[in-house]
Amino acid sequence: MTRPPRRLDLMKRDALLTSPFFQNMLHHELDELIAVSTDHRVPRGAIIFSKGDAGTSMMVVLMGQVRVGSSTLDGREVTLNLMGPGEIFGEFSLLDGKPRSADAVAAEATTLMVLERRVFLPFLVRHEGLVERLLVVLCDRLRKTSVALEEISLLGLPARLALRLVKLAEDYGAEGPGGMRISLKLSQRDLSTLVASTRESVNKQLRVWRESGLVATQDGHLVLRDVVALRSLFES
Ligand code: CMP
Repeated sequence: MTRPPRRLDLMKRDALLTSPFFQNMLHHELDELIAVSTDHRVPRGAIIFSKGDAGTSMMVVLMGQVRVGSSTLDGREVTLNLMGPGEIFGEFSLLDGKPRSADAVAAEATTLMVLERRVFLPFLVRHEGLVERLLVVLCDRLRKTSVALEEISLLGLPARLALRLVKLAEDYGAEGPGGMRISLKLSQRDLSTLVASTRESVNKQLRVWRESGLVATQDGHLVLRDVVALRSLFES
């Protein structure tokens, strides 16, 4: 007799159903996947894995936020992606068996669902729809990486920073009395790693925009007060 799903498993199922990657799956298929997964809780700031580590699993963010990026020995960093609930990471090593291509760090206290290659690959083979969505995730990451490369090569810092802020406001923003408030708490270091620049340069640019009324800070959150003016810096 199959046992009914536990409360925690039902919570995981609900979390997976909010994810574009898993949401077309049937409940019993998700339960099958949950049954062969393990949980991993990580405090804010903890390293989940480092670039070059051997990796045989893929992770789904159930709660919290994960930053994927790389750093150099002299402390320079770049953020490749920020992933929230329902998003997956670690799929490169799961698929090609090569070492991790980047570092993954918990940007907040995070709960992950871990899927090992030996259980996930046979599952993928039985679910064509999931293969298709995995390819969509990979294409989306490649497209975003190409755009980021283009931005770094072709745009100066003000345009790159304005573009990143407007994109963050589109993904994580809410209209408030003072403008578009970005719900993520981003330090100047976080922002500098997102635009491949130094913290000092980002700090200087934000100060100029604060003084001219384009942006403001409220309780540690950035507020875009003039999205039209910010857009004009990167749209031509
Ligand atoms: P993996 O190489 O196993 O571990 C690092 C993970 O970071 C990788 O799988 C992807 O999930 C993610 N990643 C690596 N490069 C990028 C990128 N350019 N854009 C988005 N995600 C990436």
